Amino acid sequence: MSLTAARYDVAAIRAHFPSLARELDGRPIAYLDGPAGTQVPLECIDAIAAYLRTSNANLHGHFATSAETESMLQDVHAAGADFVGATSGEEIAFGANMTTLTFAVSRAIGRTLSPGDEIVVTRLDHDGNVAPWLALEERGAVIRWVEIQPDDCTLDLDGLAAVLGPRTRVVAIGMASNAVGTINPVRRIADMVHTTGARLWVDAVHAAPHLPIDVVSLDADYLVCSPYKFYGPHLGMLWGRRGLLETLPAYKVRPAPDELPGRWETGTQSHEALAGLLGTFRYLEWLGVAQGRATGGQEAADHGRASRMGRAGRLRAALGAIRDYERNMTLALLEGLASISGLAVHGITEPERVDERCPTVGFTMAGHAPAEIAAFLGARGIATWDGDYYAHELIRAIGLAETGGMLRVGLVHYNTVAEIDRLVEALQELAG
Ligand SMILES: Cc1ncc(COP(=O)(O)O)c(C=O)c1O
Repeated sequence: MSLTAARYDVAAIRAHFPSLARELDGRPIAYLDGPAGTQVPLECIDAIAAYLRTSNANLHGHFATSAETESMLQDVHAAGADFVGATSGEEIAFGANMTTLTFAVSRAIGRTLSPGDEIVVTRLDHDGNVAPWLALEERGAVIRWVEIQPDDCTLDLDGLAAVLGPRTRVVAIGMASNAVGTINPVRRIADMVHTTGARLWVDAVHAAPHLPIDVVSLDADYLVCSPYKFYGPHLGMLWGRRGLLETLPAYKVRPAPDELPGRWETGTQSHEALAGLLGTFRYLEWLGVAQGRATGGQEAADHGRASRMGRAGRLRAALGAIRDYERNMTLALLEGLASISGLAVHGITEPERVDERCPTVGFTMAGHAPAEIAAFLGARGIATWDGDYYAHELIRAIGLAETGGMLRVGLVHYNTVAEIDRLVEALQELAG
């Protein structure tokens, strides 16, 4: 066992998540539905309650709670920047969710397009990263598609190269698939995209709970994620290159500031949710110190060293430790599923390719509709998901749109091998 695995204390981690204690028929519910939204730690819950109890206010008032709210907002923007490897909190904008932020930016980009400009989208993505770009057809944009390779549900990069050209303006890709777990080679794609002068939009919603994100090394131009998928409240978060966010013609009310990040944050934000997100970041920092390792792959044997890394380093260490732990769970899950007769996993299955995927696995079972499997598991206290989870094009591309899609098991860092064993046992019972 590696040092990191030895130090990863899942019981200590689970103790931070009160909802994991909820039971059905005397057994804790196994939440294997992370891709739809994760559970939240006490740090988040307490921060929401504390904000509402003591500091609830709007901005720009000449009194203490308003000043406290402004300071909290500055802090959460800075923490969001640390989470994605950005240099300034001003490059972070929060909103209701990823979809709303993506529509806001796509609409603004639409104002800069000329008829015949091209936008590239993929068949692997959640519709939140497709429909806002398709909407630009109204502005005369031409949509180009990147297909998938159905055998392993990876992107056809030759196909991407073929659709890039001098009229390409934006390429919208996902960092990881919410349906089948594929991790895309974002940096490689960025290098391809930037040879054309186009901009790369990265949907990191599914990646954020599983992988460290560094917008600099990814060379993204924009990146979006959703805190409710990485142990925080229901919110969306946008990062963009300062020069782009400052100059794109955002739709905003006239009195709102034209500076960053205000020009992208329409109306009043959910202050309590943003306070909660600061609590989530504090939890992840704890995880980085307690369970983590130093950046650059070196073990942080002493807590002092991790503490001295600063918030960005602690957050990276947390995601590094999570990634290591989840790798082993992914292997255990794929091995367990392979033991069930009539079950077919859609996506990457080879153990030696585990680094190309997240612990999110979509499968079908002969003779059992996905909704039937989800209901069977739900009745046994195992939460999963069925359908297309808005990965609409992917489910069509692999021919499952007419048969109820897939059953999705989505593990996150608080899940355990014991929960995987319980899932596999239940599936064996169903398979007969
Ligand atoms: C990969 C991916 N992108 C985008 C979205 C949409 O996110 P939101 O609910 O924040 O709009 C989701 C939600 O499931 C997702 O999984």
